Amino acid sequence: MTAAIEVNAVEKSFGNVAIIRDLNLSVAKGERHAIIGPNGAGKSTTFNLISGYIKPTSGEIRLNGEVTSGLRPFEINRRGLSRSFQVTNVFARMTVWENVRCAVLWATGHRYAFWKNVDNLPEVKQRTAEILDDIHLSHRRDVPAGLLTYAEQRELEIGITIAGGASVIMLDEPTAGMSHAETERAVALIRRLTEGRTLVIVEHDMSVVFGLADRISVLVYGHIIASGTPEEIRGNPKVKEAYLGEEVD
Ligand SMILES: Nc1ncnc2c1ncn2[C@@H]1O[C@H](COP(=O)(O)OP(=O)(O)OP(=O)(O)O)[C@@H](O)[C@H]1O
Ligand SMILES: [Mg+2]
Repeated sequence: MTAAIEVNAVEKSFGNVAIIRDLNLSVAKGERHAIIGPNGAGKSTTFNLISGYIKPTSGEIRLNGEVTSGLRPFEINRRGLSRSFQVTNVFARMTVWENVRCAVLWATGHRYAFWKNVDNLPEVKQRTAEILDDIHLSHRRDVPAGLLTYAEQRELEIGITIAGGASVIMLDEPTAGMSHAETERAVALIRRLTEGRTLVIVEHDMSVVFGLADRISVLVYGHIIASGTPEEIRGNPKVKEAYLGEEVD
């Protein structure tokens, strides 16, 4: 079967510095794939490459078999990939409802026009309400996103990322800064919302990684040193030495 994401021999340099070196990654359709690695390893850069925010210096990236390296972010999004950012990226002054509606409008191909009352579009209204319900934020719908708690903002962001119904969802440290209880809630949310889709997640919390991922790739200095099931990664001596240490024992 064609992979959801395929990264072939990708290199990325900023100036003279090679940040991503011979990156090879394959994520099967329907798989939950975690990318782990130390700070500065290039995890967010890998997300930026796959989602088109930056272009590879060389190599090729495919989404569902189709070459996407060289395409722009919105073109890749249109082909079924949606990603969140490491830093919360909601519109602070817009309400929760407006934030989600904005994502739904974009996903359904509507273009914003000030003379159109977008709230009159029944399918948009319904989908927006569904997503708010999914992410348990219906009761906060009229609150400006900037006034939500940090955890609520991250949940809103997850909602926005999945709102378009993309088949491939990429989340960059979705639980960073959350308490233990908030993290558990967010993981349950992610698990439910990505059911039947492909998920790529960057995460530092090993309980999240080992609880959620079907497969894990370990990125060190811009290169994947191992890919495999949680058990394979746990038992890989190279991984232990380079990254996990005693953390997974
Ligand atoms: N646009 C850029 N220009 C120059 N250097 C960059 C750029 N983006 C990232 N880098 C560098 O690339 C390296 C990898 O950064 P990246 O943000 O991908 O790491 P990361 O694995 O996501 O780290 P973290 O776990 O801290 O989020 C870092 O050394 C960073 O400084
Ligand atoms: Mg990062």
